[in-house]
Amino acid sequence: MFITFEGGEGSGKSTQIRRLAERLRKAGRDIVMTREPGGTPEAEAVRTLLVSGDVARWTANSEALLNYAAREQHVVQVVRPALAAARTVLCDRFMDSTRAYQGYAGGCDLGLIDALERAIVGPTRPDLTLVFDLDPAIGLSRARSRGDAVSEDRYERKGLAFHRKLREGFLDILRRDPKRCRLVDASLSVEEVERSVWDIVSGML
Ligand code: TMP
Repeated sequence: MFITFEGGEGSGKSTQIRRLAERLRKAGRDIVMTREPGGTPEAEAVRTLLVSGDVARWTANSEALLNYAAREQHVVQVVRPALAAARTVLCDRFMDSTRAYQGYAGGCDLGLIDALERAIVGPTRPDLTLVFDLDPAIGLSRARSRGDAVSEDRYERKGLAFHRKLREGFLDILRRDPKRCRLVDASLSVEEVERSVWDIVSGML
């Protein structure tokens, strides 16, 4: 079982992935918790290039290619071996983040993203994707007040218009693939969100 967590900044998905991992471990599942861009030393090195520095340092196409270089390492070295060993993989962001951030919000050619997705993700598509939906004005202020790793704030600095397009992008992904993607209302309390995540996941198991 491969479950991915997607959404804009400050949507609380990192807290929820930890809570879900805890619940599933208690239920006896063997869990691999990982993230993108990252999850291997090489992919984490690429992450540093993407999440820090000047806000306009990369073109959207370069960002898509860098994310996919990191994803190739992560899928081959971590995700596929874990799934082959019948482990449950919980991943904080995956292919939909590239489509939403670089494609819908960044303007990268969606044809390039389709091709990369086919070549690199291939059959390793998530069984379930939870899309954490939140007004970006609230998400950005939450992320800032949390003081998230300030060295990793390159996307937070992209401005509200970018984050509005990003939200619409995630909602469009959800509309196009309703069997795989489920909406989570991230404006609710941490406990309420945890409950709705658990309802979705336990229903699937
Ligand atoms: P995080 O907020 O989950 O730590 O992710 C790091 C940043 O990377 C976040 O701002 C979203 C961005 N990102 C992309 O732009 N494209 C991608 O494909 C991925 C996986 C993340």
